[in-house]
Amino acid sequence: MSPSTTHHPLSTILVTGGAGYIGSHTVILLIEAGYDVVVFDNFCNSSRESIKRVEKIVGKPISVIEGDIRNRNDLRLAFNTYAVDTVIHFAGLKAVGESVEQPLRYYDNNVYGTVALCEVMQEAGCKSIIFSSSATVYGDPATTPITEDFPTSATNPYGRSKLFIEEILRDLYISDHDWKVVLLRYFNPVGAHPSGTIGEDPNGIPNNLMPFITQTAVGKLSCLSVFGDDYDTHDGTGVRDYIHVMDLAAGHVKALEKLPLFHEVMTINLGTGTGYSVLDMVKAFEKASGKEVPYCIAPRRAGDIAKCYADPSYAKKVLDWKASKDIEEMCEDSWRWQSNNPNGYTA
Ligand code: NAD
Ligand code: UFG
Repeated sequence: MSPSTTHHPLSTILVTGGAGYIGSHTVILLIEAGYDVVVFDNFCNSSRESIKRVEKIVGKPISVIEGDIRNRNDLRLAFNTYAVDTVIHFAGLKAVGESVEQPLRYYDNNVYGTVALCEVMQEAGCKSIIFSSSATVYGDPATTPITEDFPTSATNPYGRSKLFIEEILRDLYISDHDWKVVLLRYFNPVGAHPSGTIGEDPNGIPNNLMPFITQTAVGKLSCLSVFGDDYDTHDGTGVRDYIHVMDLAAGHVKALEKLPLFHEVMTINLGTGTGYSVLDMVKAFEKASGKEVPYCIAPRRAGDIAKCYADPSYAKKVLDWKASKDIEEMCEDSWRWQSNNPNGYTA
């Protein structure tokens, strides 16, 4: 490379699923930290518009390869074009209910796609991966807060795909200790970039609580159904560990920094350690937005658990990371995105 080029001394990161909700926020922090980033996405659950907006935020163009992780030639193009040395692997399908109806599609996309990705990484001599796992791998935990050594289980194909991928990546490390593998188990991501220009943009009626709340507040939906008020929690509604997506993104940057120091597969919770109920979230959101969120109590949703929140101390210890944004900021930022973009990325 000629000395006049502006190539940064830090490495090139391939971000699969980088156009999606968590990926797009992470791309911003990676670029701000000085990494070269290549987004690899087939846009099956995202749009090019999110990339355009990220380019505006960071003030420079972003390299994008439109491709499918199941297609080895698409992947080879990425590795042949760029000197990738680490992959942050967000690409995957994530709707729990859909996974029950279409298990083969989920196993094909998530599990087979990850196998193909790792094969091509191996071919290219790139053996570092940070993987998006989920708190769903804890099933119905016996107690809270949840530490990384809790038993794992799954009640649906989506969750099982995460468990399978975790095991596949552990096997890969056993076969070849040159691999660096970090499994990040996310709790419940919410919020958006403070600019209000990028955020979560689910297809159709949202499954998850926060986008349902924001779409109700903006008038797209009439009423929130609170799924169950008879759980063993402080107000009877389900308790979760909501974490700001910018904090989550920062956790990936930390994982990347620490990666060279790791000599085993690292499994790390990314949560705040605080649990909020559905009604806590509704109240916090109403306060942050000044909007009322009409709700009614509905039956429990099949497969839901009462309580799920992280013990985040291992992340603090090994990544020197902890969440810094509170529920108020999560609600404010979710609302800024939704109110500025009532139809998400669709004009
Ligand atoms: P998202 O759907 O917004 O982003 C996923 C991205 O991957 C999308 O841009 C999609 O187009 C892309 N993609 C999917 N299949 C692909 C394929 N075969 N080839 C190329 N690209 C593909 O979802 P998200 O919320 O940003 O989640 C990112 C990751 O984090 C996923 O693996 C998800 O399972 C995991 N996760 C999400 C949550 C959550 O609540 N959002 C919680 C825990 C874990
Ligand atoms: N809820 C409602 N009404 C709604 C939607 C949700 O009352 O319309 C309640 C749920 O019953 C639960 C809480 O809000 O108590 C959170 O529900 P979400 O669907 O937002 O999140 P989950 O904890 O069920 O699951 C999410 C992702 C999973 C992921 C898990 C842990 O959907 O894929 O977080 O990361 F595995």
